[in-house]
Amino acid sequence: MPLHRSSARSAPSPRSASRPASDGPRATFPTTFPPEFLLNEELPRDHFPPRGGQPHVLHQAIAEELLLDGNAKQNLATFCQTWEAPEVHQLMDLAIDKNLIDKDEYPQTAELESRCVRMLADLWNAPGEAIGCSTVGSSEAAMLGGMAAKWRWRDRQRAAGKPTDRPNMVCGAVQICWHKFAKYWDIELREVGMRENRLCLDPADVLERVDENTIFVVPTMGVTYHGLYEDVSGIAAALDAYEAKTGVDIPIHVDAASGGFLAPFTAPDAAAWDFRLPRVKSINASGHKFGLAPLGVGWVMWREPQDLPDDLVFHVSYLGGDMPTFQINFSRPAGQVIAQYYDFVRLGREGYAAIHGQAHAVAQECAATIAEEDCFRVVHDGDPTKGIPAVVWTLADGVTPGFTLYDLADRLRMRGWQVPAYPFTGELAEQAFQRILVRRDFNREMADLLMRDLKAAVEHLRAHPSTTNTAARRGYTHT
Ligand SMILES: Cc1ncc(COP(=O)(O)O)c(C=O)c1O
Repeated sequence: MPLHRSSARSAPSPRSASRPASDGPRATFPTTFPPEFLLNEELPRDHFPPRGGQPHVLHQAIAEELLLDGNAKQNLATFCQTWEAPEVHQLMDLAIDKNLIDKDEYPQTAELESRCVRMLADLWNAPGEAIGCSTVGSSEAAMLGGMAAKWRWRDRQRAAGKPTDRPNMVCGAVQICWHKFAKYWDIELREVGMRENRLCLDPADVLERVDENTIFVVPTMGVTYHGLYEDVSGIAAALDAYEAKTGVDIPIHVDAASGGFLAPFTAPDAAAWDFRLPRVKSINASGHKFGLAPLGVGWVMWREPQDLPDDLVFHVSYLGGDMPTFQINFSRPAGQVIAQYYDFVRLGREGYAAIHGQAHAVAQECAATIAEEDCFRVVHDGDPTKGIPAVVWTLADGVTPGFTLYDLADRLRMRGWQVPAYPFTGELAEQAFQRILVRRDFNREMADLLMRDLKAAVEHLRAHPSTTNTAARRGYTHT
C-alpha cells in the first residue's frame, strides 16, 4: 500500500483547468432525464466534498473509473486469488458487519477460525496440540512467527546469562516481508544471494552463517522470485548436525506463503518440510494465495503451545469476555476467514489436489511452449515436486535476440497481459527473468491465448529489434 500524500493533488483535467475558479455559467443542454441521472461534473478529488451525490450515479461513475485498473484475470504477476465462487461472495456479504476480533460477540465466527486452525495443524502434520491464528496475510504471519522466535531466543540467552542485543536470522532470497520484519524488530538479516547454479538456500550456506545469536532459519516453500521449494529437510538435518557439535539449537520457521497450500496436495510424497520435522517450530501461509480464499487472510501456526511465548499473547476483556489474541491489527473483517472455512469443507484434500494439479499441468504446458523458443531458458517449469504452479524463464545464454524481457513484458501488456520481468538477487541481480503464475482461473483456453500472444510478440520483436536500451533495471514489487 503506497503512502498517499495529501499535498499530491490530482492533475487538473483540461476542462476544470480552463474553467474560472468562480465556476461561471456553463452551457446547458436540454434533456428529458431528471438531472440526477447525469454526472456532469468530475468526481471530488482533492477536497472533502461539502455534500454528497446520488448513489446510483456515483456507483456507476466509480465502477467505470475502476475499468482503468488492470484486468485481474490477465494479471499473471500475482500469487493472490482472482476468482471466488458465488457462495463465497454471498458469505462475504453476510459477514460484512462482523469484526473478527470481537470473539465474544461473534463466537461462531471464532469457532470457524478455530476449526481452520485445527485443520491446518492436521494438514501440516503437527504432532499434538498445535496453536495458531489467522492474520491479514503472510506478511503479518511472518511478523508473528518472527516475534515468537525472537522472544524464545531472548529468553534462552537471558537464562544463560548471555547478551541479547545482536539477534540475527538466516534465509535465502526472501519476500520483502522478511526485510520488514528484520528492520522493524532490529534483527540482522543474513540473506544468502542467488548464484547461477544455486537459486535456493543451501544447507552449507546456512551452516556458514548461523551462530548462537541466530533466532531462526527461514527457508521458503515457493521462493517468490522463481517459485522453487527450498530444501527444508536438508537444512533441518544440517542444523541437527550443528546442534550435535555445538549444543546450539536453532529453530526453523517455514515461509510456506504459497507452498503451504500446494505441497500437501500436489507433492504429498516429497521430503518432509512441515511439522514432521521436529526443528520446524512455526509455519506461515497465505489463505488468499493457494488457500483459495478471498484477499485478506493468512495463517501462522506453532508446532506446540510452548513455541508461542505467553508473554506475547494479550488478554483483552473489554468487549465482554476474555479474549487471548496475538496479532498486529485489532479490528479486522471476518468474511475472509469464514470463506476460508467454506473453501476447506467445500473442496477437501481432493478438491485442492484437483484444482492445483490442473494449475501445475497448465504451467507445464506453457513451460514446454516457451522452451520451444530457442532464445529462452526455462528456470522453473511448474513441476509440482519442485515448486509452485509457475513458469519462470530468462534469455538463453549467449543469445542476442534483439529485445529484452522488459520489451517482451511491454509488448504483452498491449494485449492486457501482465507478465512481469524483474531481476533475481545476489550474482543474478543484473539478469532479467520473467514469470507466469498459474492460478485456478488461468485455464487451458487462457493459457493457449497467452502462448499465441507470446509467440506473436517474440516474432514481432525479432523483426523489429529495439534500438534503445530498455534493459535498465526497473523496480518491481512482488504481490
Ligand atoms: C514467499 C512469500 N512470503 C510472503 C509473502 C507475503 O504474503 P502476503 O502478500 O500474503 O502478505 C509472499 C507474497 O508474495 C511470498 O511470496
